[in-house]
Amino acid sequence: MTKSFSALLAFTLVSFSEVSLSADLSAGEARYKESCINCHGPAGKGVASYPKISGNTIAYTTEKLEAYRAGIKQGPNSSLMIMMAMPLTDEEISNLAAYLETAKYK
Ligand code: HEC
Repeated sequence: MTKSFSALLAFTLVSFSEVSLSADLSAGEARYKESCINCHGPAGKGVASYPKISGNTIAYTTEKLEAYRAGIKQGPNSSLMIMMAMPLTDEEISNLAAYLETAKYK
């Protein structure tokens, strides 16, 4: 193994463990049930005109929530989501995104 490859490997392992440490799935689920389930339905499966939001990558969901929080419209009904995203902290967004990536409606 070359030096630069092992450095890269070490870096990758560190970044992975940081992601899993910083995102708290059960906190994300609790936050989801508190503020999001009424529109997006159980496990983010979507209800009527409220989009399905589970099964997307963490990066996608994080980007959307950060855009809404910044007041940037995404689709035709963004004003509802902008209101919902305003109070979210970075930590809550990362927990919600982690929960939604794997959430499944059973
Ligand atoms: C009052 C109803 C309502 C609530 C509550 C709500 N949302 Fe939404 N959400 C919407 C609507 C409507 C859209 C589509 C908005 C648009 O057109 O940009 C949306 C869009 C989204 C999207 C982007 C979907 C995509 O792929 O474009 C995400 C992610 C999302 N919501 C997450 C959440 C989270 C997380 C919560 C809880 C903090 C939440 N929503 C609470 C109504 C709601």
